[in-house]
Amino acid sequence: MPSGQKTYYIQTFGCQMNEHDSEKLAGMLEEKGYLPSEERENADVIVVNTCSVRENADNRFFGQLGVIKKIKERHPDHIIAVCGCMMQQEHITDTIRKKYAWVDIIFGTMNLEEFPRLLDECLTEKKKLMSVYHRQEKVIEGLPMHRKYRYKSFVDIMNGCNNFCTYCIVPYTRGRERSRSPESIVEEIRLLAADGVKEVTLLGQNVNSYGHGADFDCDFAGLIRRIDEVEGIERIRFMTSHPKDLSDRLIEAFRDCRKLCRHIHLPVQSGSTRILSRMNRRYTKEGYLSLVEKIRSAVPEIAVTTDIIVGFPGETEEDFEETMDLVRRVRFDSAFTFLYSIRTGTPAAKYEDQIPEPEKHRRFEHLVETLNGITAEKNARYAGRTERVLVDGPSREDSNTYSGRTDTFKLVNFRSPKDLTGEMADVKITEAKTFSLFGEAVLSR
Ligand code: SAH
Ligand code: SF4
Ligand code: F3S
Repeated sequence: MPSGQKTYYIQTFGCQMNEHDSEKLAGMLEEKGYLPSEERENADVIVVNTCSVRENADNRFFGQLGVIKKIKERHPDHIIAVCGCMMQQEHITDTIRKKYAWVDIIFGTMNLEEFPRLLDECLTEKKKLMSVYHRQEKVIEGLPMHRKYRYKSFVDIMNGCNNFCTYCIVPYTRGRERSRSPESIVEEIRLLAADGVKEVTLLGQNVNSYGHGADFDCDFAGLIRRIDEVEGIERIRFMTSHPKDLSDRLIEAFRDCRKLCRHIHLPVQSGSTRILSRMNRRYTKEGYLSLVEKIRSAVPEIAVTTDIIVGFPGETEEDFEETMDLVRRVRFDSAFTFLYSIRTGTPAAKYEDQIPEPEKHRRFEHLVETLNGITAEKNARYAGRTERVLVDGPSREDSNTYSGRTDTFKLVNFRSPKDLTGEMADVKITEAKTFSLFGEAVLSR
């Protein structure tokens, strides 16, 4: 690193939304002449992009702040900025201002674009700054971006969430739903394709309500059809789908759009209709089961993955058995499982029938064991097949081993004499493990 070169380091917690926001923060810093630093200790600007979805995310952030405090003591001129979902909550920013008063800049999820200005002001006026918005009319367009990968990219299609599931903090930290226009999304994807991107992942807290209440006439399925026509793009993925809003038009798009990957992440949260109602999810166990059946009959081989919360307030042993029953019936390709975590400010935090921690853990372990068994059986069916993967790069253990994903989002580690990073490659699957597949590249001569 040439001396005098200013550097930055960004640490990101949370979901793809946050990862993508960090790519924009990096883009803005690079536009100001900063370069990424390999290690945090020596970076002139340290940014921590936070997540608040569960209590352990909050705790990890405060743990990190303790470590960063030591860095700030050694390098008082280095700027420490904190942003992301935690900063949208007053009790958090109050704590930071009281107990971590050495933090230089605090900003939120709805004013990312202000970061360069805040940084300038902080540097010139040598003062602590905080700017958090609680409303945003439109998604900010055209921010620069430092993409993590050359050949694949996230694309925001909407921000915010209107669903107010009773356990969830996201509607409070990301605000109300707002959709970008299909024209600006497609234009961004055209530019990405021209820059070598082959796979796009469309991001929204609930992509199925894309375009609701907007001043244009295009729904999520319509948007996918438009993106399917963009030359150079080979794969389209999206995250996340709320079961209550999944339309027949989206199922038809799966059938018709060649580039749309055969994978749907469809968080169910619970298999008990009573608990689903207390969660304000607005579908029933039966409704979810028949939705999955409909998707599978239209798109055979589609991978279905999910999120499940264990130990929501009032969850009885019978309710939990309903979740186990749903899991056995749906046979998810994989699932993220979470222990219910109280989030201050959400309705469920005030429910009195909280489940004791040991009981949550017992149910959690039982569920995970069943889910893993199913995941292994699902993966076993891939042994012997040849699958097309988009290659992510060398896998850590061994220099001739690479990893990539099938269109059904299965992780494949495979041997190849040639570096195929960023390419679509055929891989003969020789072995199926619980969480990944293993194989050999099939190279054309
Ligand atoms: N918008 C996405 C989910 C965002 S949060 C969707 O609706 O699908 C990701 C997952 O975190 C949720 O699906 C849920 O399973 C989990 N989650 C959210 N709040 C939680 C809480 N308070 N405790 C435990 N898990 C939670
Ligand atoms: Fe949270 Fe529910 Fe919105 Fe997902 S749909 S972000 S779980 S409130
Ligand atoms: Fe976390 Fe915010 Fe995402 S709370 S999960 S980073 S939307």
